[in-house]
Amino acid sequence: MLRSLHVMLAYLTVIGFVLRAVWSLTDSPFKHHKLVKILPHVIDTLLLVIGVVMAYQLSIAPLEGWLAAKLVGLLAYIGFGVVTMRGSTTAIKLLGLVGALVSVGYIFAVAFSRSVWPF
Ligand code: HEM
Repeated sequence: MLRSLHVMLAYLTVIGFVLRAVWSLTDSPFKHHKLVKILPHVIDTLLLVIGVVMAYQLSIAPLEGWLAAKLVGLLAYIGFGVVTMRGSTTAIKLLGLVGALVSVGYIFAVAFSRSVWPF
């Protein structure tokens, strides 16, 4: 149940991020919508909280193994996400977008394989 919710939120965060990236790149008025400013924080906080609860339930130590790799990937995803939204030029924003997609792709690969090096 928690796992299904976590996975659903994981897909939602990526869909939401890609939409916001497109709106940021095209300077769309949608990016200023109140919901667009609030919803991603709600989704990401729930994703993180449920992840932490599951890790606790499964007695997985957070700072070792694949969970630590996920957290490093998460930091990269957040960092590249900020670059995508706030980059001063289109090239910088695109670089952020590619970095964020690679990071979140790595997180998914780690999650499904439960391995730090899933390739
Ligand atoms: C963008 C961030 C994240 C994404 C995209 C993501 C994605 C996923 C996916 C797809 C699964 C399911 C894997 C499967 O079906 O085998 C999963 C499982 C899991 N995730 Fe995440 N996750 C993220 C963040 C986190 C965080 C921050 C934590 C904990 C601090 C976490 C803890 C877990 C745990 C413990 C499981 C395993 C649950 C189980 O085996 O029952 N996740 N994650």
